[in-house]
Amino acid sequence: MEQNILTDYIEINDWLEENSCQKVLLVCDDSIKYMESFNHHLKKAENTGVKIISFTDFQPNPQYEHVVNGVGLFRRERCDSIIAVGGGSAMDVAKCIKAYANMRGSGDDGEYLKQEITPNDIPFLAMPTTAGTGSEATRYAVIYFEGKKQSVTSESFIPQTVLMNPDSLKTLPMYQRKSTMMDALCHAIESFWSVNSTEESRKYSRDAIKNILAHMDGYLHNTEKGNAGMLMAAHMAGKAINISQTTAGHAMCYKITSMFGCAHGHAAILCDRILYPWMIENIEKCIDPRGHEYLTRTLDEIGQAMGCVNAEEGAKKLQQIFLSLGLEVPEMSDEQFCELTVFVNPERLKNHPIVLNDIAIKELYHRILR
Ligand SMILES: [Fe+2]
Repeated sequence: MEQNILTDYIEINDWLEENSCQKVLLVCDDSIKYMESFNHHLKKAENTGVKIISFTDFQPNPQYEHVVNGVGLFRRERCDSIIAVGGGSAMDVAKCIKAYANMRGSGDDGEYLKQEITPNDIPFLAMPTTAGTGSEATRYAVIYFEGKKQSVTSESFIPQTVLMNPDSLKTLPMYQRKSTMMDALCHAIESFWSVNSTEESRKYSRDAIKNILAHMDGYLHNTEKGNAGMLMAAHMAGKAINISQTTAGHAMCYKITSMFGCAHGHAAILCDRILYPWMIENIEKCIDPRGHEYLTRTLDEIGQAMGCVNAEEGAKKLQQIFLSLGLEVPEMSDEQFCELTVFVNPERLKNHPIVLNDIAIKELYHRILR
């Protein structure tokens, strides 16, 4: 399905009208407070009789129970459409509310997780307020049930319409600005070398990498052009992982996030800046069925997308980008090292083109952290 991309807030009113929306469930995080212009357009819609029901009762790493509450509100209020505004968590919650809205039962005891998702045509618009997760372009959602991570996948999670206005990034704090940009860059790079990559996903990856680098300065200086460019680049990277999924960098970064309290994108770049040169050194351990020559070319192409001549230069550039952002390298204790190596996500390792055994994972963590 081709997504409809809007860039101007005024188009929200057209969207509401075209979809005959009478009552919208607005799934949003705190960032909505700063979206003055967007809120102004919602007010305008309310003046024409559209009702907006806000749902904000969820946190980062959203819980299944919160989604169930959102589904309850959607049903009680007889909402007919969903708008998601925020970062990855707001998107994940909205995606699940949409998917569960027509399911049987009240959702108790994880009921919705056991039912198959049948696509529905509830109008769904997403407005990302960070340029990072690319969640507005993917068929994945992550929620937590009884402390366990649930990765839910459905084509119907992909919003029909995405609103990307540079204004929505204006108040993004600097650390979040840097880490979400690194998340997008890691999506593009990992998707490029993923064993699931296709011609199409590689094109998205290439475009995303080029645009992230082209707009990095402007985005870090909070210019309108930089913010617009980074939103689109992160969206492209989302389209890439929607096809190929992420790889070892993401498998290894999850525990770093919770252990050291750093942002997801910060943890991802900590890993990928080390993985890239390590893969060049270990190319003979390639498990991509397309062969190690193919992978060598791919690693070169990643470097070329970054404006370098080959993979070696590309790996150096990735490290330079990391250093230029001044993101910290956490220091680990022996106990933390043991814990990290146990918690690597095996599912994502399967997408990695080079075999990663226990010894390699230990060696990598020693290079990733201090
Ligand atoms: Fe990510």
